[in-house]
Amino acid sequence: MSDETTAVEELSSAQAERELARLAMEISGHDQRYHTEDAPVISDAEYDALKRRNLAIEARFPDLKRADSPSDRVGGGVLEKFEKVTHKVAMLSLDNAFSEEDVRDFVERVRRFLKLDTKAPLAFTAEPKIDGLSLALRYEEGRLVTAATRGDGTVGENVTANARTIGDIPHTLKGSVPDVIEVRGEVYMTKSDFAELNRRQEAEGKQTYVNPRNTAAGSLRQLDTAITASRPLKFFAYAWGDTSGLPADTQLGVVECFAEWGLVVNPLMKRFDTVEGLIEHYRLIESERAELAYDIDGVVYKVDDLSLQQRLGFVSRSPRWAIAHKFPAEKATTVLKDIEIQVGRTGALSPVARLEPVTVGGVVVSNATLHNEDYIAGIGSDGQPIREGRDLRIGDTVTIYRAGDVIPKVMDVDLSRRPKDSMPYVFPETCPVCGSPATREVNEKTGRMDSVRRCTGSLICPAQAVEKLKHFVSRNAFDIDGFGAKQAEAFYLADLVKNPAEIFTLEARDAASMTKLKNRDGWGEQSAANLFAAIEARREIDLHRFIYALGIRHVGEGNAKILARVYHSARGFVDAMEAAVDHDSEAWNDLVNIDGIGPIVAQALVEFFAEQHNAAIVERLLGEVRPRDAEQVATDTAFSGKTIVFTGSLERMSRDEAKAMAERLGAKTAGSVSKKTDLVVAGPGAGSKLKKASELGIEVIDEDEWFTRIGE
Ligand code: IVH
Repeated sequence: MSDETTAVEELSSAQAERELARLAMEISGHDQRYHTEDAPVISDAEYDALKRRNLAIEARFPDLKRADSPSDRVGGGVLEKFEKVTHKVAMLSLDNAFSEEDVRDFVERVRRFLKLDTKAPLAFTAEPKIDGLSLALRYEEGRLVTAATRGDGTVGENVTANARTIGDIPHTLKGSVPDVIEVRGEVYMTKSDFAELNRRQEAEGKQTYVNPRNTAAGSLRQLDTAITASRPLKFFAYAWGDTSGLPADTQLGVVECFAEWGLVVNPLMKRFDTVEGLIEHYRLIESERAELAYDIDGVVYKVDDLSLQQRLGFVSRSPRWAIAHKFPAEKATTVLKDIEIQVGRTGALSPVARLEPVTVGGVVVSNATLHNEDYIAGIGSDGQPIREGRDLRIGDTVTIYRAGDVIPKVMDVDLSRRPKDSMPYVFPETCPVCGSPATREVNEKTGRMDSVRRCTGSLICPAQAVEKLKHFVSRNAFDIDGFGAKQAEAFYLADLVKNPAEIFTLEARDAASMTKLKNRDGWGEQSAANLFAAIEARREIDLHRFIYALGIRHVGEGNAKILARVYHSARGFVDAMEAAVDHDSEAWNDLVNIDGIGPIVAQALVEFFAEQHNAAIVERLLGEVRPRDAEQVATDTAFSGKTIVFTGSLERMSRDEAKAMAERLGAKTAGSVSKKTDLVVAGPGAGSKLKKASELGIEVIDEDEWFTRIGE
């Protein structure tokens, strides 16, 4: 009997191995045809049977599971980069309402604009505002031809291959459909799918994700379609762009047609004739929020009559005919059971509240940040009282809140419920991990004591060492696949990797050692081999990632990029930092004069390299890895050293592209206008920044002039 027809139970190990190889190839072929070419040659049921057989064999012979196992990979090809798609109709955003009064004002504004008196009928739809990312699906003759992300509203990315892997997105629409219709809606991930994905990531030692929305966005914008396909994404249709003709003349009518065509629409969408109706629906949705399968952050109201929508039009980037009524930040009351001190990478002692678990907006919260010593004592970062000076004590009943994706915070305390025997919290003055003194420095800028207390045992403190390692391998640093925070901690405790340089000698030491990684708990032949391969793959790394990975105080990604551009090579950077110890040197002078690098950052850099131990690790690291030289900054253009602000909508380039362009020309870009700004490039819809620029007398040019000046 051939391997293919042998029952899983009867396969020999050699047969199983051959079968797994065959299935991997066959399934990936079908994936390619289905996801990338949209031309499947077998039915879904046949495909599922192949996948099940593969899984069953892997379950019987776990050691034979292949690195390219189809159980881990679903989907088609890998793209080089996303193509750009210019939206025929711009993808706009919504204005916000934060109170019932704001909603009433909105309805009034609409009436006034349309010259409708208070009695005239005016209907609105109300529906949840899905916390995901918007996607435009272009159907021509009922067939999906392009899927594009919002991008900057004018130009998005072509993610068609990825969108095709989403079950809620039909490849063809049913029934009588206009020749051209661009359906718009929201891609999202359910709360439970998100939790499940994070559990898996954690089990595999990979980075976990912050929230369903970011995960959905990250999953959709994958160049490897297989990754998107493996993520459980969903889609609600709620709007449209370019079309050859609409099937109805009301908002609700069109959305009902969407449903008939096979798209998924939100069941909580309803039409109302009065503001009271809208608000009642808002309250209903709010009360069901925690039980909904997906995250929402408000309720969207839209004028139902499309001819009125047409008349209302847009103000800058949002329609006059719609508004998002946002939910307030969510709060809950619980008991502060304990305060734990965590020691960070730079020695900061961070207090964490251990809470009696409580549900806030559908998420169980059992930890919250307490920021620092002063925050617990009721003192703000400006030295002024917060919570009217009320301190926080273990045993207190506290209110916590969570807004969007931020870490939960402790907001206030109920003194009437404070236990009689409670004592003020005493913040430790020694490091709870290494016992070194923990001190508060005087902040040079304010002359006040820094609110953060730091462990002074930088070189001997294991907590700092572990945190430095975690930072080194983190997503924006070396980002080593399969070497996450969990592995960093485990390797450190097992004395396998005590510093970043040792990551790169792990394989050689493993080969020479008796106790091999593959024999350790949680590791096997394949996973150890995968890890070594992932480490190898990172020996070449962008210079800014290398600099950021060192974990120098005040050197985040932004500063790391500046330093990489200025110093160009790793050697140049290290030599300059070592020379800059001498404050009379040219090296120091150059360093403090870099735009964006002030004396505090400069001092932190110099201190880091002046520490023998650090310098030695950096040298060892440079013996192992090869940072790629950064693109040199032009220093001789009309823009070098200038600070430029882009504002309003740009038609010919995306905001990111504009920034990159300016930076290549040696300029710095900023998000807001200040006295330091040299030039403002303003597109249509520019508002407060433009006003500020004219108040400050800063030169303002439009996009065309920008292109003229840069000579394109
Ligand atoms: S209507 C012209 N309806 O919210 C505006 N948007 O803040 C068309 N969103 O970019 C958008 N749920 O990504 C609309 N039910 C809903 C929505 C919704 C979520 C998002 C959308 C938009 C953003 C605006």
